[in-house]
Amino acid sequence: MIVTGAGAQENRLSEGERMAEAKPEILFPKEVIEGRVRELAAQISQDYAGKELLIVGILNGAFIFMADLIRRLDVPCRVDFVRAASYGCGSVSSGEVRITKDLEAPIAGRDVLIVEDIVDTGITLSRLMEVFRERRPASLRVCAFLDKTERRRVPFAADYVGFIIPDRFVVGYGLDYNEKFRFLPDVCVLDDIA
Ligand code: IMP
Repeated sequence: MIVTGAGAQENRLSEGERMAEAKPEILFPKEVIEGRVRELAAQISQDYAGKELLIVGILNGAFIFMADLIRRLDVPCRVDFVRAASYGCGSVSSGEVRITKDLEAPIAGRDVLIVEDIVDTGITLSRLMEVFRERRPASLRVCAFLDKTERRRVPFAADYVGFIIPDRFVVGYGLDYNEKFRFLPDVCVLDDIA
């Protein structure tokens, strides 16, 4: 079948070409992010005064937020990282979550704060919380930079949230689309591509 017209032209564009054409629209500029990260760090420092935190970042997306957050804390902290993969068909998650890179050290008796880039369906974090709770930390909380509350498929509420956002696909400040755009200093909307 020969397809002609503008639609055919669009279909012929490679992902790379579409990405090059995509114009991410700024949702949160870096100055706004910086201010909110300071507020979160102040709240966390107050809540954990006199304690030593173990900050667990969820790779890859949380690394920039986590790096900014810990430099604003007034309480001492150690860091560790975990990586989780969720399975499903296309963009629909099956709800199965597997830890593909586990923590380096035990968390029993420690005050653990999980740091995540964005909560979407809530499946990844609710499953990670179950796994971590079984390891008997002294306390376990979650700090999420962004939260798409309207997309929840399982009940989950983060203890600290940077910004609640609508159901839009966002990139930048560590968040990616196919491993791209993580380096952008602002959080941008990429609805036209995702
Ligand atoms: P959940 O298990 O559905 O809550 O998945 C959360 C994960 O989905 C995040 O850690 C991101 O990797 C990914 N994610 C969800 N929404 C977005 C988005 O708008 N931009 C980039 N990644 C997203």
